[in-house]
Amino acid sequence: MKKLNVAVVGATGAVGQEILKIMAERDFPYKNLKLLASQRSAGTEINYNGATYKVEETTEHSFDGVDLALFAGGPASRAFGRIAQKKGTVVIDNSSTFRLEKDVPLVVPEVNSHALKEHQGLIANPNCSTIIMVVALYPLYKISKIKRIIVSTYQAVSGAGKEGLEELELQNRQLLAGEKTNPITFPYQIAANLIPHIDVWMDENYTKEEMKMVYETHKILSDSDIAITATTVRVPVYRSHSESIYIETEEPISPEMAREVLASSRGVIVQDDPQNNLYPMPILASGTDEVYVGRIRKDLFVPNGLNLWVVADQIRKGAATNAIQIAEELIKNNLI
Ligand SMILES: NC(=O)c1ccc[n+]([C@@H]2O[C@H](COP(=O)([O-])OP(=O)(O)OC[C@H]3O[C@@H](n4cnc5c(N)ncnc54)[C@H](OP(=O)(O)O)[C@@H]3O)[C@@H](O)[C@H]2O)c1
Repeated sequence: MKKLNVAVVGATGAVGQEILKIMAERDFPYKNLKLLASQRSAGTEINYNGATYKVEETTEHSFDGVDLALFAGGPASRAFGRIAQKKGTVVIDNSSTFRLEKDVPLVVPEVNSHALKEHQGLIANPNCSTIIMVVALYPLYKISKIKRIIVSTYQAVSGAGKEGLEELELQNRQLLAGEKTNPITFPYQIAANLIPHIDVWMDENYTKEEMKMVYETHKILSDSDIAITATTVRVPVYRSHSESIYIETEEPISPEMAREVLASSRGVIVQDDPQNNLYPMPILASGTDEVYVGRIRKDLFVPNGLNLWVVADQIRKGAATNAIQIAEELIKNNLI
């Protein structure tokens, strides 16, 4: 594979750290590696593949001579994404900043890698819950158009980055010690609680996280006719998002057919054996790259209605793995 000069923006964060781990696991080809973050972490040392790298503050000069920049730096995307692109760096971005922009392909390699052909130097990774949902639904969508999606998510605290993780750890310790908790990252105490509120409020009392699942799914599948409604909930789980997904299809898809099709689909593992208490769970999915599907059953009242329970590691398949898969597709198809 072609070797690139690579920069990881947000290398000290939850997604950035996982990007480095996955690059090493998959022997991702690079010539030079630059690790970038904010001023806060500049100078920190990170060991990677037997070498020690000093984290640098991200500036507009950080991208000179860089072929590929993997952005997982939160506000850095808005500040430097377009600057890097203008310098000729191909940007793969994990934030929501560019996802719905017309010149930016929004890509899940198992679903729409064809969209990469038209890239103009900036490619967006979809929202983690959206990636997980479309990987599970696309194989079914290929059999029959999906008319309706009702999804409720159970999202891990690491979806809010390293601070989200630390907040749950701290609050769990505080509760055990009988101490008072002090929510900072989340609007309420997350330990021993659920919070039906992720990201900011939008029209009609939906949250931005919920509307990302609607608009991003429409863009990835190039189908704005799917009637999607989402409820996104933060739960006191450290890692891996779960989703209860209900679909109505135009043509009937039996649970048996769904199991068979999903079992042979790229990136999907069916875990669906109720008699043996086998179903997807965050503790089983964490640290892996696949999307797990179980509890597949038909709606007892609505024709062509199907229920699924879907779980995946959102830091990996919902962010870092998806970004690396996009980079690998670019290299394989000479698009970088
Ligand atoms: N966590 C997930 O499950 C997940 C899933 C999908 C997408 N994403 C997206 O991925 C991105 C990173 O999320 P995360 O969860 O990894 O967050 P995180 O753990 O909070 O890490 C944020 C990273 O961004 C860096 N950073 C912050 N401000 C910066 C700036 N102005 N310039 C350069 N670097 C800056 C931080 O560096 P310092 O160490 O210097 O603070 C840190 O390395 C976000 O856009 C997020 O929405 C996250």
